[in-house]
Amino acid sequence: MLASDLISPEKLAPLIRNTIFSGNLHHYPQTESTNLLAMQAGAHGANGRENAPEGAVFLAEEQTAGRGRKGHSWHSERGNGIYCSFLLHPPLSPGDSLWLSLIAGVAVQDTVKEISGLQADIRWPNDCLIGEKKFAGILTEMSSEASRVNYAVVGIGINVNHERFPSEFAQTATSLRLESGTEWSRLELVAALIRAFDREYRALLRTMNSPIRTPALLFEPIMRRVESRSSYAHGKLVEVHEDGGYSGITDGLDPRGFLRVRTDRGLRVVISGSVRPLNEKSDASGT
Ligand code: BTN
Repeated sequence: MLASDLISPEKLAPLIRNTIFSGNLHHYPQTESTNLLAMQAGAHGANGRENAPEGAVFLAEEQTAGRGRKGHSWHSERGNGIYCSFLLHPPLSPGDSLWLSLIAGVAVQDTVKEISGLQADIRWPNDCLIGEKKFAGILTEMSSEASRVNYAVVGIGINVNHERFPSEFAQTATSLRLESGTEWSRLELVAALIRAFDREYRALLRTMNSPIRTPALLFEPIMRRVESRSSYAHGKLVEVHEDGGYSGITDGLDPRGFLRVRTDRGLRVVISGSVRPLNEKSDASGT
């Protein structure tokens, strides 16, 4: 780890001035999961205060029980990654909450480009890749009623300076260091990440305040923005691990942000299954 690279709130605060996240940073040398901390703050308040406000950020140097999607864990070694969770009170219905994960992917992509120059891809819904290997993941959790989100937590993990991974991830995981051959400042990266997520989240809030009430039109600009950032959005031959598995060609996002896949049995919408590229030579029968 770069000696000067502890993510201290004192060093971070001046780098994220004028964002909605500037006044409420919580940093931990070690914790179970920053998403767990943020969810607890959503429920009970941060540091014993009631009603933790929108914009609290939870950061850790190490997680002992980092959470991934679908009950997986997130490998969170000390001092080499970014483990960051944002607490939000978005004016969204639960059915529209996928947009939070999708804009976080755009923010990660912008951050990595700004700091390292590396070009990342987004594999729907929230894996960030360099080449075919994953270097960052996003886990959005929330408390909601039927028609509104009470609070949501967007958790982002980025593999920054990892030199190797445990054997079970070695074929599929990478880090910015492994891809570029250089170490990167986690402080600069996390500051850029917070600024980028601030931009994307404000754009989402502006969208929600627009007078348009037709979802397909309301989310259209965000939909186009996300689609333009992901090689998976259009025309990619994929297999989908959902409903027994099927394959087809991706065909953009629907108004809630779900991925459409054109199969030989018609258009299907991926709800939460994983999507993987299918080798052109394999069978793409649309099953
Ligand atoms: C995934 O790809 O499965 C999502 C991984 C999300 C990991 C981040 S690390 C910071 C935050 N805290 C957690 O426990 N998980 C998320």
